[in-house]
Amino acid sequence: MDLSTSPRRPDARRQGGTRLRPRAHLSAPRNWINDPVGLVHWQGRYHVFYQHHPFAPVWGLMHWGHASSADLVAWTFHDIALTPGPDGPDQDGCWSGSVVVVDGVPTAFYTGVSGQDDAHRQEVCRATSGGDLTTWHKDPANPIVPFAAGSGPDHRRDPFLVRSDDRWLMLLGTSARGPNGVRHGAVVAYESADTASWQERGILFRDPGDGSFPTGAVWECPQLVRMGERWLLIVSVQARRGPDPVCLGAAWAVGDLDGARFVPARVGRFDGGDVLYAPAVLAAPDGRCLVWAWLQDPEPDLTGSDPVVGAISLPRVIELADDQPVCRPADELEGLAVGDTMAMEDARLGPGDAFRVTLDLATRSFAGVRLLTSQDQQRASVVGIDARDGVPALAMAEETADGLRTIHSIPLALPDAPTRLDVFVDGSIIEAFAGGVAIAARVDRGRFPAPTVALVVDDGPVTFGDARVTPIALRVTDAVPVP
Ligand code: FRU
Repeated sequence: MDLSTSPRRPDARRQGGTRLRPRAHLSAPRNWINDPVGLVHWQGRYHVFYQHHPFAPVWGLMHWGHASSADLVAWTFHDIALTPGPDGPDQDGCWSGSVVVVDGVPTAFYTGVSGQDDAHRQEVCRATSGGDLTTWHKDPANPIVPFAAGSGPDHRRDPFLVRSDDRWLMLLGTSARGPNGVRHGAVVAYESADTASWQERGILFRDPGDGSFPTGAVWECPQLVRMGERWLLIVSVQARRGPDPVCLGAAWAVGDLDGARFVPARVGRFDGGDVLYAPAVLAAPDGRCLVWAWLQDPEPDLTGSDPVVGAISLPRVIELADDQPVCRPADELEGLAVGDTMAMEDARLGPGDAFRVTLDLATRSFAGVRLLTSQDQQRASVVGIDARDGVPALAMAEETADGLRTIHSIPLALPDAPTRLDVFVDGSIIEAFAGGVAIAARVDRGRFPAPTVALVVDDGPVTFGDARVTPIALRVTDAVPVP
């Protein structure tokens, strides 16, 4: 399985780029954001915590930022939820983890980091909260799972808790030595009756070694959720390219849980683009499985006084069909509309507008929608269905006088259903959905500044149905002051 690459912790400085802050996606009020963590629905609100550097637009001293919403459209930013140190196991960072309700008490399990660079320790810490999840009390017994020095890999992080057979399972992303002696991504399991003391249960899942799964050097942010008779496992795959880690993307496996071993039946890529990483699941009260992920910002614009780097994806609903996860945008996103829905041919959009395009279509060639064009109208960024090689795929392409060059594509999970393309364009972010799959990508708005929505056909027979465009934005009701 091939995952595209993008830089993990970019520090590239683009001079004079077009700064377009996302309007329909969550980002931090300012500075750096990476993984969504600790997703939980609590007392009528969805809570999204996130990896956040409050003081700089680059990855660094990680805190847990916090936003919440009752309807996935109006969001309130709260004070920082978890702050490192001043001493102890999280003095150099509160890294990713999860929140579960243990005996009625919301409890965060996170990665406490102490020490720098290759000498740092990653340990599981715990904090509890009452009320509205804005104040957290760290467990004086932290770390509850200490650094596993000498017993294997140094990377053990991102605790994810799940109930199974009257016990708690905790998964950590790690690496494990394969038969060839090389370390590859893996998930290690721990078990507990009370979430205070944990016993290690060994490797839950690792690369099957048959080329079907992306190995990477380390797997991060494991997620495990029961879906009917099956379990869905999601991992994020990190590789090393030179001194910096690179986030390759996320992969899923659907299968069975046998004690503390995961037995895969089917595996695949989680997203067809190159910026989505660290997807995290939330069990909604109505039974839906919602997923948010980090949208990386490989070329952030750091000019100006108030940079915002990184964003959280739109919430996706995940279901299983034929042992594979199929996704669609959450229905609540209809509420993002901030203006009338327009027929595509009448659409008028300003240069900074975020917008959603929906289009019904059937094609055996390439058909879709032009979204953004270059100033001279000679190039366009296009999303469509590419069936030119007989396998219908959701695709992002660049259109020039020479035709359509596909940049990202992923085969539809539901190729036989009527195809509705559903695309969100928000600053440099494009999130597109069709046939149960999705692509998240970034476009350079310096190259493609102009929203110009129009139908595109390569050649061959195509049927277009309803084509609509709606201006969209989140309602952010409260922003935290600069700490
Ligand atoms: C994933 C990740 C996690 C880690 C966190 C640090 O992007 O590397 O494994 O806990 O980010 O910010």
